[in-house]
Amino acid sequence: MTSNKKIMILSGDGVGPEVVHETKKILDWFAKHQSLNFDIQEDLVGGSAYEKHGIPLTDKTLSDAIEADAILFGSVGGPKYDDVDFEKRPESGLLKLRKEMDLFANLRPATVFPALANSSTLKPEIVSGLDVLILRELTGGIYFAEPRGIEELPDGEKKGFDTNLYTTSEIERIGRVAFDLAELRNKKVTSVEKSNVMMSGVLWKEVITNLHKNEGSKIELSHMYADNCAMQLVRNPKQFDVIVTDNLFGDILSDCAAMLTGSLGMLPSASLGNKNKETGKRHALYEPVHGSAPDIAGQGIVNPMAQILSLSMLFKYSFELDKESELINKAVSKTLEQGYRTKDIFSKDGKLVGTSEITKNVIRNLDELVR
Ligand code: IPM
Ligand code: MG
Repeated sequence: MTSNKKIMILSGDGVGPEVVHETKKILDWFAKHQSLNFDIQEDLVGGSAYEKHGIPLTDKTLSDAIEADAILFGSVGGPKYDDVDFEKRPESGLLKLRKEMDLFANLRPATVFPALANSSTLKPEIVSGLDVLILRELTGGIYFAEPRGIEELPDGEKKGFDTNLYTTSEIERIGRVAFDLAELRNKKVTSVEKSNVMMSGVLWKEVITNLHKNEGSKIELSHMYADNCAMQLVRNPKQFDVIVTDNLFGDILSDCAAMLTGSLGMLPSASLGNKNKETGKRHALYEPVHGSAPDIAGQGIVNPMAQILSLSMLFKYSFELDKESELINKAVSKTLEQGYRTKDIFSKDGKLVGTSEITKNVIRNLDELVR
């Protein structure tokens, strides 16, 4: 099978380039062994773009990204940029990509690989077999809504403020994705907000409830306050199937869910837009949930699995390459079963290896799986 779909690679900062480097080896494997060829374009984003261009995302990079069939993203940010103007910070580049491409649906699956049940900080019986999908609204809420700013008050004090805001249609479209995804899974959706204190939460709950009545009746819907959800995620995470929530709560709860799986270094994500009605094309960006981890960057010890699994999600959601996606998941799983561990998931009976060595083993397992 040949293909000339275009993948744009934006590896970014910190450990981003390292984990993307490993993931490109997986892409090379598919080119060599499965004749799966993509046009690859690479560019700078975040701090690396800021250093070259003075901004974290150039217009040219953005328009190329919009043209691409899928984006494989590394990570952005680092303490080096702490004093840079807010809108030129590396994170702004990522937020602009999400917003301009309308990537409103962020899928963050937290699944526990059997071999890693012991790596979680929670008891193995609490996490083994876990398969939760956090669906985070990604282009609205407090991340983007106006007014926001820092202003000086007459008495010389300052006030810093943000706005949390959701419209009916924004809530409906993410709710719809939640019901669609649950349909393919265990048919349960937990909608998470703080309707006990926030008006945007009151509306969120109301819209999801109505949508469920009108469009999602085959799905079991429940509602939960965000603080309770954080607690329930560590108390009994297997009660959840799909959790749908706003941008900020989704950011926080997905870090929490990631840790259930053993390490933040294991969690991939997909950020999807709606399908264009005329072209059938859907904008999509795939990135690990972990950040740029500047404390371990450049040491060859970072876990590349979240990035490699992000490629698996890219295959599945952008190119309908379900078999190939599953092949990557299996190769990752086998590598873990064989005991290979980067530092973040190391336990004493494992074999401690670095970034490129664990990838080598994923590739060996790919070879063996197709033999
Ligand atoms: C994430 C990250 C980002 C976010 C940062 C890097 C802007 O934490 O994707 O979870 O807050 O959304
Ligand atoms: Mg985050």
